[in-house]
Amino acid sequence: MRHVKIAGTGSYVPEHIVTNDDLAGFLDTSDEWIASRTGIRERRISTGENTSDLAAAAAQRALEDAGVKAEELDLILCATISPDCFMPSVACMVQERIGASKAAAFDLVAACSGLVYGMATAAAFIESGMYRTILVIGAETLSKTVDWTDRATCVLFGDGAGAVVLTPSERRTGILASYLVSDGGKQDYLTLPALPLNNSFMVKKDEHQPEQSSILSMKGQDVFKFAVRSVVDQTKTLLTKAALTEEDIRYVVLHQANSRIIEQSAKSSGISQEKFFLNLDRYGNTSAASIGIALDELSRKGMLSDGDKLLLIGFGGGMTSGGILLEWSR
Ligand code: UT7
Repeated sequence: MRHVKIAGTGSYVPEHIVTNDDLAGFLDTSDEWIASRTGIRERRISTGENTSDLAAAAAQRALEDAGVKAEELDLILCATISPDCFMPSVACMVQERIGASKAAAFDLVAACSGLVYGMATAAAFIESGMYRTILVIGAETLSKTVDWTDRATCVLFGDGAGAVVLTPSERRTGILASYLVSDGGKQDYLTLPALPLNNSFMVKKDEHQPEQSSILSMKGQDVFKFAVRSVVDQTKTLLTKAALTEEDIRYVVLHQANSRIIEQSAKSSGISQEKFFLNLDRYGNTSAASIGIALDELSRKGMLSDGDKLLLIGFGGGMTSGGILLEWSR
């Protein structure tokens, strides 16, 4: 079986910064509440760019970093829950934008676990020999999905995109183990409805049925508990699969949802908290984009060396959780 490595990373966030104080200007909230309950201090919010714009910019940077030309790509996978439209896919829009003329392209929905689900899917294509060079993107404009009058949700999210280029590795490095989990029984923890059913043959609708709208809603405390349980389960499973221990891990890159989830996960998983990378103070929760943005930041700041072992763990709507144990090599 072929091994699969990250050949390059890229990310892109909109320029416009929205601070907690900005939100307190029109919501009954405060910098103190948001920062102490979540760790978030500011987020980037799109003033006009859609998900495909952010995705294409992150993709371009990942290709440059990898030294790979767009025409060399065999597949583009975009993980998103906030596409520009149902059709065409964001991946097809990116394909056109970057000039990846030979690539197949499709979107994938696994909410905040999306980038990890995409990387595991891409790795399976490369391991099987079907494709060699794959671009995986996590991109979101969640700002268009939240109710900006609901202080319980809108303060949490931000817009952004992260991308990785995956290629075969000559050495036994790169992705050492992956683990994907889904629990549809908990689907009501996080929801973002699509179009309501509406056709000429419908049995008459109940007049009291509320109109379905495309607004994100969340059972925050249930998600919190699911997240911590997932991190513990993922850590144990991935370390066992790769025959490694907690001490072997250089960094844990969790989905950036809440600093308290990260603190609790560190305590429960037995990995020292300083190994958990944190940048949600500047970006908030960018769903499928967060792990890609974090990984790109670690790489560009020169914080990663060949041989470093990283745990990437996402959790989110579905409910889903996805993990990858990675040995960094460039
Ligand atoms: O990508 C995955 C998606 N989501 C997550 O990972 C989120 C996981 N959950 C969480 O991070 C936390 O549950 C939240 C940050 C969402 C909420 O924190 P909490 O400690 O669970 O707060 P709570 O929902 O229990 O609310 C406590 C109080 C409530 O007021 P009362 O009922 O005690 O008077 C809320 O109305 O805080 C109030 N509150 C706020 N107050 C000021 C909720 N949002 C705000 C706000 N500003 N923005």
